[in-house]
Amino acid sequence: MTSSNVVIDARDVHVRLGSSHVLRGVDLRVERGEVVALLGANGSGKSTLVRTLVGALPAASGSIQVPPPARMGYVPQRVSAAGGIPSTAQEVVASGLLRPGRLRLPRGWRDQVHDALGLVGLADRCHDATNHLSGGQQQRVLIARALVREPEVLVLDEPVAGVDHPSQEQFAATMTRLVAQGLTVLVVLHELGELAPLVTRAVVLRHGRVVHDGAPPSARNGHAAADHEHVHPHAATTTPEHGDESGFAGFEDSTAALTDHPEA
Ligand SMILES: Nc1ncnc2c1ncn2[C@@H]1O[C@H](COP(=O)(O)OP(=O)(O)OP(=O)(O)O)[C@@H](O)[C@H]1O
Ligand SMILES: [Mg+2]
Repeated sequence: MTSSNVVIDARDVHVRLGSSHVLRGVDLRVERGEVVALLGANGSGKSTLVRTLVGALPAASGSIQVPPPARMGYVPQRVSAAGGIPSTAQEVVASGLLRPGRLRLPRGWRDQVHDALGLVGLADRCHDATNHLSGGQQQRVLIARALVREPEVLVLDEPVAGVDHPSQEQFAATMTRLVAQGLTVLVVLHELGELAPLVTRAVVLRHGRVVHDGAPPSARNGHAAADHEHVHPHAATTTPEHGDESGFAGFEDSTAALTDHPEA
């Protein structure tokens, strides 16, 4: 593996929130072009990890290397697109083009914003107030806000929670196109859903630790991983050497992490 292909490199990351030791030594390396699903039960630390990676939370210890903010798009979990102040979809998406220390939007921003809203199927809602959009539509506006920067890495925290099935399909199609163009994706999910064919690797958190890093659960029947062009080299590390065709010994153990339960 050449280190120049690594776009996210987090090592032994610990995060404390209040009195909780939420992340307990997380290692995560993501290479260019990968689509990594971050899975785990409620409270396992998924949002904390992505928020730490995008710089929204400080790590107590460990090292984190990510692209500069201008090259990263981030869609946070369940937030309303428009606080209390009415703003249009166009304004919210345009805010994704703002940079620290630059007071004006770049030339041609309207076209960029229109294109980004088009990617999420909301081009015709440009001038609508976001508080007049449904929750799922607001979520899509936030995805457009992340995409308008044409990021190198896109970090999404449950981007399709509350989004209807046709919109999920459209989102998956958009992701497929962007990934083909070289986008790297780290996406928190509860189910792979429509994104399953795209996901190259799954990382499962449990109680703030990585308990699986390898083939995604959809590959359990042996098709997805084998058919995928971009199987991560780490995926092979979970494949037993002694002819267990399922190849998911590690994952079987960690599926417990997908259901919520207290620490033993
Ligand atoms: N501000 C905070 N202060 C103290 N503890 C916090 C804080 N924010 C989150 N936590 C705790 O950190 C743990 C991980 O939370 P996190 O939001 O990262 O989980 P998650 O995996 O994203 O869960 P979900 O699937 O519900 O979104 C939880 O136990 C949560 O209670
Ligand atoms: Mg979360």
